[in-house]
Amino acid sequence: MRTVDLIAKKRDGGELSRSEIEYLIQGYTDGSIPDYQISALAMAIYFRGMTAQERADLTMAMVESGDQIDLSAIAGVKVDKHSTGGVGDTTTLVLAPLVASVGVPVAKMSGRGLGHTGGTIDKLESISGFHVEIGNDQFVDLVNRNGVAVIGQSGDLTPADKKLYSLRDVTATVDSIPLIASSIMSKKIASGANAIVLDVKTGDGAFMKEMEDTRKLAAAMVDIGNRVGRRTIAIISDMSQPLGYAIGNALEVKEAIDTLNGQGPADLYELSLTLGSHMVVLAGKAKTEAEAREMLEQSVRSGRALDKFKTFISAQGGDTAVVDRPELLPAASYRIDVPAREDGYISAIAAEQLGTAAMMLGAGRATKESAIDLAVGIVLHKKVGDRVAKGEPLATIHSNRERPDEVLESFYESIAISKQQVNKPQLIFGVIG
Ligand code: URA
Ligand code: CA
Repeated sequence: MRTVDLIAKKRDGGELSRSEIEYLIQGYTDGSIPDYQISALAMAIYFRGMTAQERADLTMAMVESGDQIDLSAIAGVKVDKHSTGGVGDTTTLVLAPLVASVGVPVAKMSGRGLGHTGGTIDKLESISGFHVEIGNDQFVDLVNRNGVAVIGQSGDLTPADKKLYSLRDVTATVDSIPLIASSIMSKKIASGANAIVLDVKTGDGAFMKEMEDTRKLAAAMVDIGNRVGRRTIAIISDMSQPLGYAIGNALEVKEAIDTLNGQGPADLYELSLTLGSHMVVLAGKAKTEAEAREMLEQSVRSGRALDKFKTFISAQGGDTAVVDRPELLPAASYRIDVPAREDGYISAIAAEQLGTAAMMLGAGRATKESAIDLAVGIVLHKKVGDRVAKGEPLATIHSNRERPDEVLESFYESIAISKQQVNKPQLIFGVIG
């Protein structure tokens, strides 16, 4: 096989076979095929697309390029949840203990945040003592004992994807649905789950800003999962404004605790119940989503979901006192209320810009190497559709700088207020799969 012939085949609209894709990905991973040839291939894929079979083959070639996590020692159907990333997306912190509390094993690997989106691992590390560097045997053991564990990436998962994603970043080939879909799915499949629930975000703060692209991406990922024997479904959910009220690490832990107590933001709770009920059904613990939802709601009402959160925190070395006393979480030195400059209705909260404002406070990383401040962030008091009076606080900025003026300016730019009444945006746009 000659790499140049395979590039030409894709350039001319041909379909690559499984063995051709394996040859390309293996060669790229071991360094025998250079960056410039894979750059050309990525650009050919960008313009020509991939067939459903090519996408699945590319996904599996990337899965096989590195380690795969073996969860077979955990009894039951392991269902993973993946979000394509959003601002203030606190769902994993709620979902992991919530679905575990009704008997669905949660063996989750999570990442750190980058840019305007936060990472679950960073959020959990705002709980004193909590650690995520756990080996595979202990990971399996924790899930078997408590039903839930969340750890950082271990092993060398999907090295082909790491290389290819970095290359796409500098060759203007990130925005290709088959390449995005196979990149995300390769990581989920290598992490060992039997079934996958995807939360595909749409809107300003999401990777996919247009509904049509979001649906295509969701359908491509669902198709890949199902083709390779992992039952997969996708929920399409709104990211035109941040999810919940809190953006920032410790602030989101508090928001998750409130939600597990039945006192969290309505949108975060609703999305958690929707994703959670699909996970419960895929795990075979309920026959219908309605039945699953009832189980989850009952678990919140009875306090079992919150107890599971305590067990989970304690098993990973964290201080469970924060659950009853969230004021023990890292707190910022300054709380600055941001008053509305006019009367009206909130008509937009630009999620990406607000995520970037939180990053400027120190809640997120501008580059992989940046340090983050777990205490800082933004707590909204109003969401799209809410009425506001001039002078009333729109949000509170939690800062370790006395005068974060540029953050305030950015905050005001991200909020639009209209004189006309505005409807609350739809939260869930559909289910695929
Ligand atoms: N996220 C990923 O993991 N991969 C992509 O290609 C795009 C977003
Ligand atoms: Ca939130």
